[in-house]
Amino acid sequence: MTATPPASFAADPAELLAIARDIALEAGELVRRRRSEGVEVAATKSSIADVVTFADRESEDLIRARLAAARPDDGFLGEESAGEPTPGTSGVVWVVDPIDGTVNYLYDIPAYAVSIAAVQVTDGVADPARWTALAGVVVNPVLGEVFTATNGGGAFLTSMQAPDAQPRRLAVNTDVDLARALVGTGFSYSADTRVKQGRFITGLVEKVRDIRRAGSAALDLCSVAAGRLDAYAERGLNPWDHAAAALIAREAGARVGGFGEAAESDVMTLAGSPALLAELEPLLFALHRDAGLPLE
Ligand code: IPD
Ligand code: CA
Ligand code: CA
Repeated sequence: MTATPPASFAADPAELLAIARDIALEAGELVRRRRSEGVEVAATKSSIADVVTFADRESEDLIRARLAAARPDDGFLGEESAGEPTPGTSGVVWVVDPIDGTVNYLYDIPAYAVSIAAVQVTDGVADPARWTALAGVVVNPVLGEVFTATNGGGAFLTSMQAPDAQPRRLAVNTDVDLARALVGTGFSYSADTRVKQGRFITGLVEKVRDIRRAGSAALDLCSVAAGRLDAYAERGLNPWDHAAAALIAREAGARVGGFGEAAESDVMTLAGSPALLAELEPLLFALHRDAGLPLE
C-alpha cells in the first residue's frame, strides 16, 4: 500500500474519486438501460470473440465528455478510443474501460462493470509501469455494487440500493495457503494464446482449491479486494482492464503486480495477499516458462 501524502499528488485523490464515482454511476445506469433494450454488436476487434457493442462506445463517449467538462486539462485513455489517447497538461490521466466484461454483457450475465481510474503520470504517457494510481471506481450496475479506492485512503464497497449505509472497508483474505486458494483468471481473445494459457491452467488447477473465470478482470480484482477470491492471475490484460481495480485491491491489502518487481501488465497481472503470492508466483512463473509464454 502506498502511503504518499495527498500533498505530493497532482490532484486530491478524494476529489478525483468523487468525480469518477458520479460519472461511473451515470455510465453504469446507461449501460444497464441499453442492456434491457437489447444489445447489438457494433464490430469485432482482435478476433471474432472480441466484440464491441454500441453501448461500449456510448458509455465511453459519455464518460469522456463528462470528464472533459469537469477537468479539461487532464488526459484520457479509453479502450474504445485507445488509438487517440490525449496526454493532457495537468499530470492526471483518466484510464477508462466503458464496459469490462463485454461478453457477459452480450449474454446478460450480471458480471460486467464500468471502470474509471485517475492516474498520475510524468510525461503524459499512461503506462502502468510508471503511473501512480490516485483514485479508482468500478461499478457493477446490475448488482448495484460500487467499489472505490483512493491512494492511501483504503478501499470500500457501497451498494447503489443503500447509498446512505456505512461503506464496507475491504480487506483481502489472509492466512490462505496455495492448496486452499480460490484463484480467478481469464483467457485471451486470441486462440493461439488460449492454447498456451490452457497448459498453464492445467498445472495451476491441480495445486489450488479451484479456479474461477468470471469474465471481468476489473470485477475479479475487486473480488480479491472483497475476499470473494483469494488471488487472481491473468496474462494479456490492457491498462484499462486493471487501472482502477488494481488500486482497489492494493488498498485492500493485496500485493498487485507482474512477475518479480514488474508492474501489472499484459505479461502478467497477479493479485492476492503477499503470503499467498509468495507461493503462487513461483508456480505461475514456472508454468508460464514451461508453456512457452513470454515472461517479460
Ligand atoms: C476482458 C475481460 C476479461 C478478460 C479479458 C479482457 P472486455 O475485457 O476483462 O475478463 O479475461 O482479458 O479483455 O473486453 O470485456 O472489456
Ligand atoms: Ca476490459
Ligand atoms: Ca471493455
